[in-house]
Amino acid sequence: MIKHLLSIDQLSPSQIELVLKTADSFREVGTRTIKKVPILRGRTVCNLFFESSTRTRISFELAAKRLSADVINFTGDARSSLAKGESFKDTAQTLQAMGVDAIVVRHSSAGAPHRLSRWVEASVINAGDGAHEHPTQALLDLYSIREHFPSFDGLRVGIVGDILHSRVARSDVAALTKMGSQVTLVAPPTLIPPAIEGWGAEVSYDLEGVLPKLDVVYLLRVQKERQNEQLVPSLREYAAFWGLDRRRVELMKPEAIIMHPGPMNRGVEIAADVADLERSIIIDQVTNGVAVRMSLLYLMLGAADRAVEEVPVG
Ligand code: CP
Repeated sequence: MIKHLLSIDQLSPSQIELVLKTADSFREVGTRTIKKVPILRGRTVCNLFFESSTRTRISFELAAKRLSADVINFTGDARSSLAKGESFKDTAQTLQAMGVDAIVVRHSSAGAPHRLSRWVEASVINAGDGAHEHPTQALLDLYSIREHFPSFDGLRVGIVGDILHSRVARSDVAALTKMGSQVTLVAPPTLIPPAIEGWGAEVSYDLEGVLPKLDVVYLLRVQKERQNEQLVPSLREYAAFWGLDRRRVELMKPEAIIMHPGPMNRGVEIAADVADLERSIIIDQVTNGVAVRMSLLYLMLGAADRAVEEVPVG
């Protein structure tokens, strides 16, 4: 397995399959009364978050703890020495000096995890860097899709919303196309990035025309903090033209599923009642995130030379 996970591009389809297959075992661990296995006892995982997060930070913490690793949660805010002017590099080397084995990093700057991986001996896992990538989100999304469809090959996935600023869209397109799925990006022209041709996905500006063809409708959060960029006239107008409401759900195939990475804006990109439909698997994505992150930590830190059948989860 790879030492660092910085981008989905680093993983081959067979490595992705290995992560998903290994996650099956850990998904089962999460259903037990005692949700803990001793696989990473004595190893230390540091969550280094310079941006807000609920799902990713907590699920990495839970994943590491369920594998019996020691966990440090470091938030790059006023409580750390970053507030006194300490640099990112010095912070990283301080953590390394304390013997951490893995650093899970979220940062507002694209490329920050790459830089970090050059400064430390520990494995570095990208937990979201600017508008660049969010590879573990893509892996948990694949896992969640696989629970509903037997194969990724030929699956039609529509990713709807703010593609321009979305690290989730970049990682999901890379992962899904690598596994043989066909991805269509659906958004107003102002939210499509300029160099979209290189992504290997189709682009559509016609949500209602695309919906009946899709197996998966993947909605992205409207980043309200970017409203001053005036890329959409108003949230109300966005909801009217691009939001998934009950009327648009009626256009979908009966077996098609709805996904969202969270956090959601109910009433904007997704109607409140649509988020709670049975075909909305948004909560399952969160549950699966823990199992997929356990799988990654296990494969990267604890099991480089073991076959998946040997995962000691008993
Ligand atoms: N999907 C996701 O990255 O959510 P958080 O920002 O809460 O981690």
